[in-house]
Amino acid sequence: MVQVSYSQFLALVAMGLAVYTSAHVQDTAQYLFPYERNHLTHTSLRDLIKSSGVSTKTKFFNFDKEKGSTKERLKSGSCKVFPGDAAWPSQAVWGDFSKLLGGALIETIPIAAPCYENLGIFDREKCAAIRENWADPYLHESDPTSVFFPIYQGRSCMPTDDPTSSNCTLGGFPVYSVNVSNVQQIQLAINFARNANLRLVIKNTGHDYLGKSSGAGALSIWTHNLKDMTFYPELTIPGYSGPALKIGAGVTVREMYAKAHEHGVSALGGICESVGYAGGYVAGGGHTPLSGLYGMAADHVMALEVVTADGRFVTASPEENPDLFWALRGGGGATYGVVTSVITRVHPKTPVVTSQFTFSTSANVSTETFWEGLRSYFEHFIPFTDAGTYSWWTLMTTTGKDFTFTLDPFFAPNHTIESFNALVKPWFDRLTELGIPFTPNTKFHTAFYPAYNATWGSDPTLSSGGSVSYVPGNYILPRKNWESPDLFNATFSTIYNHSTSGRLLFGYHQAPRNRANVDNAVSPAFRHAISFLILSAGLPGPVVDNKPTVSQIKTATDDLINNILPPFRAVAPETEQGQGGSYLNEANADQPNWQASFYGEKNYARLLKIKNRYDPLHVFYAPTAVGSEGWEVSDGEQGAQTQNGRLCRL
Ligand SMILES: Cc1cc2nc3c(=O)[nH]c(=O)nc-3n(C[C@H](O)[C@H](O)[C@H](O)COP(=O)(O)OP(=O)(O)OC[C@H]3O[C@@H](n4cnc5c(N)ncnc54)[C@H](O)[C@@H]3O)c2cc1C
Ligand SMILES: *[C@@H]1O[C@H](CO)[C@@H](O)[C@H](O)[C@H]1NC(C)=O
Ligand SMILES: *[C@@H]1O[C@H](CO)[C@@H](O)[C@H](O)[C@H]1NC(C)=O
Ligand SMILES: *[C@@H]1O[C@H](CO)[C@@H](O)[C@H](O)[C@H]1NC(C)=O
Ligand SMILES: *[C@@H]1O[C@H](CO)[C@@H](O)[C@H](O)[C@H]1NC(C)=O
Ligand SMILES: *[C@@H]1O[C@H](CO)[C@@H](O)[C@H](O)[C@H]1NC(C)=O
Ligand SMILES: *[C@@H]1O[C@H](CO)[C@@H](O)[C@H](O)[C@H]1NC(C)=O
Ligand SMILES: *[C@@H]1O[C@H](CO)[C@@H](O)[C@H](O)[C@H]1NC(C)=O
Repeated sequence: MVQVSYSQFLALVAMGLAVYTSAHVQDTAQYLFPYERNHLTHTSLRDLIKSSGVSTKTKFFNFDKEKGSTKERLKSGSCKVFPGDAAWPSQAVWGDFSKLLGGALIETIPIAAPCYENLGIFDREKCAAIRENWADPYLHESDPTSVFFPIYQGRSCMPTDDPTSSNCTLGGFPVYSVNVSNVQQIQLAINFARNANLRLVIKNTGHDYLGKSSGAGALSIWTHNLKDMTFYPELTIPGYSGPALKIGAGVTVREMYAKAHEHGVSALGGICESVGYAGGYVAGGGHTPLSGLYGMAADHVMALEVVTADGRFVTASPEENPDLFWALRGGGGATYGVVTSVITRVHPKTPVVTSQFTFSTSANVSTETFWEGLRSYFEHFIPFTDAGTYSWWTLMTTTGKDFTFTLDPFFAPNHTIESFNALVKPWFDRLTELGIPFTPNTKFHTAFYPAYNATWGSDPTLSSGGSVSYVPGNYILPRKNWESPDLFNATFSTIYNHSTSGRLLFGYHQAPRNRANVDNAVSPAFRHAISFLILSAGLPGPVVDNKPTVSQIKTATDDLINNILPPFRAVAPETEQGQGGSYLNEANADQPNWQASFYGEKNYARLLKIKNRYDPLHVFYAPTAVGSEGWEVSDGEQGAQTQNGRLCRL
């Protein structure tokens, strides 16, 4: 066997030669899940095709060089094949595909189809149950194509109690999904999409805010059932030795938290229990209530298993495909490959203090006094984040004159009640001095999971499923806006103006920084962050029953893009110097300048190179994903950029 040193290895990679020592392959192969051991090579694919009695042309399924040059596929006006096109695969080919998959191909029936007469499956009771549970995240997760933000799917089959008022159509739902239970099926789906020039979508939980897990005319890879998890008390792989969890692509953060807790450790995930861990969350960087101790979730990922656009099953780690490894940690989902599992390092069991309370304007608390109390909170973001803490709060108003601030919760990992009380004392004293009544419910928890469980984890409907009543957006504010008194005043005025104009505001104090000191694609805005704001433009009501109208969605989207986001951008521009930006995972699909805003200018240039190297044909596409500026979804006028239309090159 040829031995190469690490520096020789890097030099060879730089020369464009893929070099793997057998030791590397050994290292990762021993940790594969059973569903990952079930993957294809050239030989095993040939055998599979032979043994499964496939009758049509096998060119659709193999690893061979793509038919049609990259140039042709990426030529202006060239489109992904759409149902009804001459090039759309015949029923016989789809039948063969299903055979190769072992029957795991599902033809899409939109989740709310029983609410309509036109598909011949009208069922009053089933429809009523779907309407009633529409806000339940698990309803959407257990369906192959349903998503949490139906606006971006095109709302072509919303639950309704009027079965004849409109027809249920596929809209932005994929045409078929592969209900994946092994890596082989992912490879077959990617090969088929690449060879037949089909649009390809990946859906895990469907939490995505921008339509990234939808796509008209697409084939979808549905990873929901890849639920394996393994805890390693002592794992040794290139670049890491220590306790770790290996997490399957379909595992939710709640499932991961429970597993970590069972083994006496803590793991990094988000606040919504039903979000997937190894899919969009890690791909976007992943902020977490423990970010004040450890940084972003992606900073702790030590290796990933991935199927790339050429159908190959590979490892991404510091030593294998290091550039892919860099991109998969922060560079966005559905762009470079399908991740089948993630190995993350885990952390010691951490005690947590949580505190929940609310204060409002009232007969005794004037608007001015309320804002003094809120200002005092913001003034303490530097000591609060320096002490490793995090919060989730809401600032509600109906008129722009009455306000309710709710801190639910202030989350202080690695604190005692005493250290927490000392930390918040200056703020609490100020509230008392102002005469603002408040009653903190402060509790000590021995570990992360019980603290999580007692706060966000006690409300599984935090995500309000498919029935949101707003169009989403967000902004990340940097610490430097707190360090300069002028910038602080401008920033706080922006928040004041936003709120006093009658708009809702949700937010966090949190500073992930680069606490693990790693080099990955996490947005630079998170490295500087001190606060993360969830901004949204309200709709007249929740997205159900074919409401709101297209023009109401357009009005809200325009309001978000033209009025709500710009003042925040003005105080923290989306440049390396301005240190502002939006979080790609919770952003708005119509945001201008998203490349710099979501990824950072420098990172974007590097990510685009990696994208084009690993996926030269653009087998993977998602709105606002790296490389997507070369594509367009023609969806007509739906009030927002939806995925309900044909995907073509610009
Ligand atoms: C209520 C709520 C709370 C949230 N809280 C947090 C939080 O605390 N911290 C945080 O960082 N984020 C949070 N998010 C945002 C969340 O991280 C994103 O919505 C994320 O994209 C969800 O990923 P998913 O895999 O569950 O969803 P999906 O919609 O299934 O996928 C999201 C994207 O990732 C792609 N993708 C999915 N699986 C794979 C895969 N295996 N390989 C490659 N690409 C894949 C999809 O194609 C899509 O582009 C929250 C979201 C909601 C709705
Ligand atoms: C539903 O589709 C049928 C068949 O295309 C059409 O005749 C009918 O007008 C449609 N109904 C509505 C309400 O759009
Ligand atoms: C998907 O496959 C799993 C087995 O992995 C099976 O249990 C489940 O019922 C399937 N779901 C659908 C919707 O077909
Ligand atoms: C206002 O303050 C008075 C006197 O302290 C108290 O009796 C009253 O309950 C307070 N009202 C509200 C709405 O808090
Ligand atoms: C938690 O606090 C202890 C004691 O103050 C300290 O030694 C340890 O480093 C802290 N852990 C983290 C992750 O900051
Ligand atoms: C989480 O909370 C539920 C009740 O809300 C409780 O039954 C369960 O035991 C809790 N789990 C942990 C680990 O605290
Ligand atoms: C910031 O605003 C506060 C409150 O309005 C004011 O007292 C202070 O002088 C301002 N600071 C600067 C630098 O403008
Ligand atoms: C807040 O609004 C006022 C009045 O409309 C305006 O003069 C001021 O410039 C705004 N401040 C910021 C920071 O946007």
